[in-house]
Amino acid sequence: MTRKILIADPDPNFSGKLSEYLQTMRYDCYKAQSGKDTQLKLFQHEFHCVILSFNIKNHSAIEVLNYIKLTNPFLRVSLLLNSPEEVKLLDLDNNFKKLGIASYYTRPIEYDQLAKNIAGDNLHRAWMEVKASEGGKSNVKEEEVAIDDSEFIEVPINAYFSGNLVCFDIYVQLSSGRYLLIFRKGESFDDQRLATYKGKGVTQLYFKKEDRNQMMDYYNHIHQKMVNSETISDHTLASTTKLSHQFVFDEMMTSGLYKEMLDNSKKLVTNTINSIKRVRDLGNFVDNFFNDNPSLRDHSYLSCLYTSLICQNLDWVGQKSEQDFCLASMLQNIGLSADKQNALVDETKLSPEELAEYQKHPMQGYKVLLKYTLSENIRQIVLHHHEKSDGRGYPQNISGAKIYPPAKIVYVAARFSELILLRKKNAITVLGEFINDRDEVLGCDPAIIRALITGFIKKKESNKGKKK
Ligand SMILES: [Fe+2]
Repeated sequence: MTRKILIADPDPNFSGKLSEYLQTMRYDCYKAQSGKDTQLKLFQHEFHCVILSFNIKNHSAIEVLNYIKLTNPFLRVSLLLNSPEEVKLLDLDNNFKKLGIASYYTRPIEYDQLAKNIAGDNLHRAWMEVKASEGGKSNVKEEEVAIDDSEFIEVPINAYFSGNLVCFDIYVQLSSGRYLLIFRKGESFDDQRLATYKGKGVTQLYFKKEDRNQMMDYYNHIHQKMVNSETISDHTLASTTKLSHQFVFDEMMTSGLYKEMLDNSKKLVTNTINSIKRVRDLGNFVDNFFNDNPSLRDHSYLSCLYTSLICQNLDWVGQKSEQDFCLASMLQNIGLSADKQNALVDETKLSPEELAEYQKHPMQGYKVLLKYTLSENIRQIVLHHHEKSDGRGYPQNISGAKIYPPAKIVYVAARFSELILLRKKNAITVLGEFINDRDEVLGCDPAIIRALITGFIKKKESNKGKKK
C-alpha cells in the first residue's frame, strides 16, 4: 500500500527534491507551502506522516501543531528546524511530547536519515513483509561490525523466538562498540547455529533500536500464538510476556502514544490477561528481577500483571473494564519527565523538593492523556493512582469513596510491585510483609487486598492440582 506523506515547507525547491527522493521509496507525497494550505490538506486527506517546517508562514508551525493535536493527535509529525538555536528556543528535548511531534531535524537535512525514521515510524508491520517474502538464504557469512552500543537493544537469548525466516538482523556483542552480525533479515533461521552461540556462553542477543517498533508488533504476534498453544511452558509464556512489555514500554516512553503504539498496548494487555489466566505458577512472572536495578519498565510490567490478577478476583470488574484498568496500570507514570523514566523511584530517598516535584506526575499524566482518544476511566486512574484510602496519598489527599474505585486497584498492584522490586524478594514473601504492615494496609481498600490474596491462593491450589 502506498503511504501518503505531507511535506509542508515554504521553499518549493526543497519540498520538490525531498518529494522526488521519497517517491523513489514508494511514498505518495503531497506538498504545502503555507500553514493554511497544510491544514487544508490535512483536512482533505489521511496522511501517515507530516514533515513540517518550523519556518512555515500564514499559520505558524505552532498553530499547525495545535490543529493536529486537536484533529488528529495520532498523526506523526517530523519537525524541520533551521538551526540548533531553534531547538534550544523551543526546549525541544523537554517539550517533545507537549508539542505533539515524533521527531525533529535541523538543516541541512539528511534525506537518508529522515526516510529511515519515517519508515520506522510507519512500518511497524514490515516484519510481515519479510515473513511473506521468498527470502530463505542459508549459510550467510557472519560479519564483524563497529557500531555504538547506544544503537542496540538486548534480548536474552533464551527469550528469543523466530519462525522459519529471520525478521530482524541479529548481533552478538564482542566488546563495547564491536558486534558480530550472526543472522540477517530474510535469512532462514537455523536453530543449531543459535545453539552454538549458547554453547559458547552467549546470553544476550542484540537488535538495532530502529527495529524496536517492529519487534513490539512481532512479539505481540508471537505472544498471542503462545497463549493459544498448549505446548508452550508457563516459564516460556512468562518470559515472552515480560519481553513484550519491555518492547512496548520502551517504545511508549521513547516515541509517545502514536496509534500503532496504542493498538499494540491493547493487544499486549489482552495477551497478558490471557497469560495470567493460563499459567499455574505466578512465580514464573517475577523471575530474574532480584539481581537487577529496579526499573520503571519492570514496575509497569508487574503492575499490569497484578492489576489483572486483582480484577480477575473482583466481582464488579468485567472484561472490558479489566482491559482498561490494565492499560491504565501501564500508563500510570506517563507524566514523569524523561529523566525519571528509567529507574524506579524510591520516594523515601527523595529530598522534600524532589518529592514535591515527583508528586506532580499523576496530574501531568492526566494532562498528557487528554491529547489522546482514550476512555476517561484510564485518565481518572492515572490521576488517582497514588491516592490512599486513608487520605495520605497524592496529589489531592482524598480518601475512601472520593477516590475513583478502579484507581484503588492500580494503587494496590503498583505498590505491591514497587515493594517486590525495591526489596528484591519474591512475591509471596513481599505479600506476607505487605499485608502485615498496618501503614500499608490502611492505604489500601481491604476488598482489593483480599482479591490479590485470593488470586495467589487460587494459583497455588491450581499448581498443587497439577503436581498430583
Ligand atoms: Fe506513579
